Formats: sequence, structure tokens, C-alpha cells
Amino acid sequence: MSGQGHEGALGAVYEATTPEEVAQLYDGWASTYDAEMAQAGYRHPSICLALLARYVPAGSTPILDAGAGTGLVGEWLGIIGYPEVEALDISKGMLEVAARKNVYTRLHQAALGTPLPFADGHFAAIVSAGVFTTGHVGPEGLDELLRICRPGGVIVLTVKTAVWDNGFASRIGELTSGGRLSVIEQTDPYVSMPGEAGTVPSVAVVLRVGG
Ligand SMILES: C[S@@+](CC[C@H](N)C(=O)[O-])C[C@H]1O[C@@H](n2cnc3c(N)ncnc32)[C@H](O)[C@@H]1O
Repeated sequence: MSGQGHEGALGAVYEATTPEEVAQLYDGWASTYDAEMAQAGYRHPSICLALLARYVPAGSTPILDAGAGTGLVGEWLGIIGYPEVEALDISKGMLEVAARKNVYTRLHQAALGTPLPFADGHFAAIVSAGVFTTGHVGPEGLDELLRICRPGGVIVLTVKTAVWDNGFASRIGELTSGGRLSVIEQTDPYVSMPGEAGTVPSVAVVLRVGG
């Protein structure tokens, strides 16, 4: 049985057990990813873009697309008024597809959940669509995002409910109590790929750095 009942590339990435395995599986999926996600009616990029535009003034720079993949979020950010967007992803193959779209000012191959190659407070905002999910990144990815986003900056994340209920929500609670962030919006659970049977719902959250 594939991960969470999904077949093919999607099932395989949900079942990955190490970051290296995740990177390798996405490298192999990169060339068909955009077409398959379009077929599945993939919603995370649109939802993240809407939430980002609600809280981050046009012209804010720079913005980080964390787990950018092939650039399904980045390809719209320039059009809606964010002129400087950097991409970070663990998969070289996904970043190569993103690079061909010419929408990112810089691309970084790096792993969320490890120390990231950016100065404190470097980004005005961070968006991460479809990355805090089963077999990918959990609450361990949050602290570095908070460090590299400037005080008052906004972080928009989607989080699979299986991850949310398994340590993510409690870590958000701790960080909120400690004054390191505030939750400014959270969606109701929604299905990110209506065309895929058995998709576990996700939520999208908007965090403001510094409480
Ligand atoms: C479902 S795709 C989402 C890509 C893009 N944000 C989108 O919405 O199409 C998940 C992405 O997260 C990346 N990823 C998984 N684990 C990661 C990690 N620890 N650090 C950085 N990227 C990671 C994968 O390589 C893949 O490109």
C-alpha cells in the first residue's frame, strides 16, 4: 500500500523516511510534477498566495519560498507585486525546473529542519506550500524560519493535519507563549488535492514573528 493510500510518486514521497530519500524521490518526480499536480487540482499554492497578499504589502523584499519545488508559488509572486523572491529546496531536480521559470532571484539547495544559510531577520516574509507534511518536515523546521524572518514579518505555511496534531500545534503554542510568534490567521481544514482519493486534509496558518 502506498503512503496514505496514494499511488505513484505521491505515495512514495509520503513514505520516505530520510531527507536524502525525500530529495531523491522529488529529483525523479520533477519533470512531471507540474502536470500531475494540475491534474490533481492542487490548491496549496493558491491558498498561500491569497493569505500572503492579505498580510504582506506589495513590494516587500526579499521573500523566501521555502520548499519551493518547481516554483508553483514563485511563478505568481512577481506578477502580484513581490519583486525579489528566493527559492529553497532539498531537491536539486525540483530546483532545476524552478530555475527554468526565471522567477527567483536566487536558488538554494538546503534542508528545512537544519541550520539555514541566511542571516537573522533576512526575509520580509516566508511562504511554504505543501512542505510541512507527512514524511517531509515537522515542527523541527519552525525555529530556523523564525530566526531568518524579520521581527514583524509574516510566515505562511500549510500543515497536514496529521503533522499539526503530532507536535506542530503544541510547538506553535509554546512559541506563542514565549512571545516568539503570534498566529494571525488559520484556515479550516481543506483537502489540498481534490482529484486524489484519500487526501488527508491540511490547514494553512499565518504567523507573525515576534508576537
Ligand atoms: C509537495 S512539494 C511542494 C513544492 C511547492 N511548494 C509546491 O507547492 O508545489 C514538497 C517540496 O518540499 C521539498 N522538501 C521536502 N523536505 C524538505 C526539506 N527538509 N527541506 C527543504 N525542502 C524539502 C521537496 O523537495 C518538494 O519540492
